[in-house]
Amino acid sequence: MSGLKFLEVSPRDGLQNEKKILSLEDKTALIIKLAQTGLKRIELGSFVSPKWIPQMKDSKELVQKILKLQNEKQINSQIEFSVLIPNQKGLNFALSSGIKEISIFLSSTDSFSKKNINTCRQESYKKYQNICKKAHKENLKIRAYLSVCFDCPYEGKVPQKEVIKWVQKIQELGVYEISISDTTGKARAEEIESLFEQLFVYVPKEKLACHFHNVHGTALTNVWSAYKMGVMSFDGSVGGLGGCPYSKVPSGNIPTESLIYLLKGAEDPMIKKLLSIGSWLEKKLEKKLSSPLLNSPYYNS
Ligand code: HMG
Ligand code: MG
Repeated sequence: MSGLKFLEVSPRDGLQNEKKILSLEDKTALIIKLAQTGLKRIELGSFVSPKWIPQMKDSKELVQKILKLQNEKQINSQIEFSVLIPNQKGLNFALSSGIKEISIFLSSTDSFSKKNINTCRQESYKKYQNICKKAHKENLKIRAYLSVCFDCPYEGKVPQKEVIKWVQKIQELGVYEISISDTTGKARAEEIESLFEQLFVYVPKEKLACHFHNVHGTALTNVWSAYKMGVMSFDGSVGGLGGCPYSKVPSGNIPTESLIYLLKGAEDPMIKKLLSIGSWLEKKLEKKLSSPLLNSPYYNS
């Protein structure tokens, strides 16, 4: 199973849609706990407008705190941290925070793009062309998400040719990985197979990742389909926390512990550590999380 890669998105995708906003101390504690599970890549937050996403308003302080702890060797130096950025202002925050990796995010439809970042796909792409040029000069690693690759909450079923076109354009920005996102969790295994088969014509398998929200309980099946086709990089969120506020559906991410269970085995020691973080988060957020493993007698005995 070597070669598998996981990106933990709970501090960003997980918390960005929660009614209860965690304090900077609690977010720091969450990341310290996640860093102790063996996860190697963690998305810390986003440098977006606090008017749009107040949950992420302290992302810069959080990044600085975490990088300081890492410098002081209180956090494993092997872990790579990243943040999401929508525009030049976000890049400025990234550069002044000391983070070494950014994630850009685009959409397969104009309607979702406008709802999410108040601009159409082409305009946001143009902005990202400049941003990526600057980020490359500053030696930042760049990852990309492409949202609504199967279904759009505003336009319905998304034509594959649109997704393929935007993936190709994103590749030209020099990103190291593109995370194919099922934002509304509506994709089925058959559609995963059909889209990835097309994408492999244009993009090497190693440059593709999966970011599947689990609204309809199909995310694990979809991960398995992509994995059997050779995709090795998967995004997850502890406890199944998460969702984009503009996706119209209560769209939790695939639980990281379920990803590990499926791809590394039921006895992997990461699972119990992740479940204990899930229980901690349930107390902090004062709600039940969706992860099925959190209720499993096998892990709770
Ligand atoms: P806008 O209102 O068009 O932009 O928003 P603006 O330039 O007029 O700025 C509005 C205010 O925000 C100004 O403040 C700016 O300074 C400030 P004011 O002058 O009014 O006091 N501002 C910022 N502040 C901090 N950091 C920044 C920044 N930019 C502007 N970077 C904007 C445009 C893009 C800013 C806004 O739409 C936005 O922040 N959107 C964020 C949306 C978001 O975070 N969505 C969730 C993440 S994406 C997702 O979840 C999908 C994903 O998981 C994959 C999947 O599942 O599909 C990745
Ligand atoms: Mg998402």
